[in-house]
Amino acid sequence: MKDSLFLRNCAGEVTSEKPVWMMRQAGRYLPEYREMRARFPNFLDFVADAEASAEATVQPIRRFNLDAAILFSDILVTLPPLGLDLSFVSGRGPVVSNPIRTMQEVRSLTTFDSEKALSYTRSAIEKTKQLLPSGTPLLGFVGGPLTIASYAIEGQSSKNLLNTKKLFHSDPSTYKAFLELMATITGKYLALQADWGCDALVIMDSWAGHLSAEDYREMALPYTKTVMEIAKHAGRPIIHYANGASHLLKDVLTLNASAFGVDWRADLPSVLADNPKTVFQGNLDPALLFAPPSEIKRQTTEILNLVKDRAHIMNLGHGVLQGTPIEGVNTFIETIRNY
Ligand code: CP3
Repeated sequence: MKDSLFLRNCAGEVTSEKPVWMMRQAGRYLPEYREMRARFPNFLDFVADAEASAEATVQPIRRFNLDAAILFSDILVTLPPLGLDLSFVSGRGPVVSNPIRTMQEVRSLTTFDSEKALSYTRSAIEKTKQLLPSGTPLLGFVGGPLTIASYAIEGQSSKNLLNTKKLFHSDPSTYKAFLELMATITGKYLALQADWGCDALVIMDSWAGHLSAEDYREMALPYTKTVMEIAKHAGRPIIHYANGASHLLKDVLTLNASAFGVDWRADLPSVLADNPKTVFQGNLDPALLFAPPSEIKRQTTEILNLVKDRAHIMNLGHGVLQGTPIEGVNTFIETIRNY
């Protein structure tokens, strides 16, 4: 396992071939996923079914022979055990019907033991390890505390995080109490995923980019640091991904992660030049997988040329989009394999 291309690059080793995986590599663009998904009207039942989760995790590995698998689950699984009523509504995404807006609501949340409440994740990890090729690392993941909390505060995906920012600015002690709670739960859950068998860990802070640099330093960074401090004890590499966060990169890079995911808006040549010793992950535009093969090849090769002499993890700049053509994914992966 230690010899895997993926883990060697996480450790900063320069390999002639680069490892590749894709954020949201399991999901609706795969016909075999859609077929399985049809058996679970409720997405959370799918995630909590260890066999189904393991199967969904390995589907993209079978098809594309990727260098890492990511556990099929979701960043929001820690919300229901807290007493938050989470559902995934078709066409709307995640919905929390009892969002958190006051200190009283924070205090009324249930304390829970992840080892018990999220034990289905343990079963899913164990089942997945049986199905995966022996040298393929399995990634566990959580959301950044800001990102998870924003779903709990907004009650749904939000364009501008208005309620989250309002809470922070008008009632900072409630905001802090909630984020501290999220950070502790998230850190412990991430460490557990390592104890249960995950070979590397990912923190996905999808909404960080909505914050100004000043607010990021107060509203998100300290809580992500807590997650990392708790999870570091598990002794696994941690990849930090922030979306839309080029303006925050200097602050993000103060985190003690093994590698940093950058989205497709980041100007990779200057990011690499400014940070010669840092391992990055990314950053092809997910929409490019809809383009003609020659264009996918050209832009993928451009990234490969840039990272030739450094450790790097090939990936998209965000998750695979719904409707992505399998052919586009194949062209991306083959360009990397044939480089
Ligand atoms: O393959 C993988 O990446 C592993 C599984 C995974 C899912 N979600 C499965 C999923 C991972 C790593 C996530 C992370 C996740 N979930 C993030 C961070 C990454 C990102 O994309 O920014 C966020 C913000 C979420 C929250 C979430 N979950 C949303 C906004 C949605 C609805 C929108 C959507 O994409 O459908 C989900 C549901 C979800 N999580 C699906 C999948 C495959 C779709 C469910 C379905 O089949 O209907």
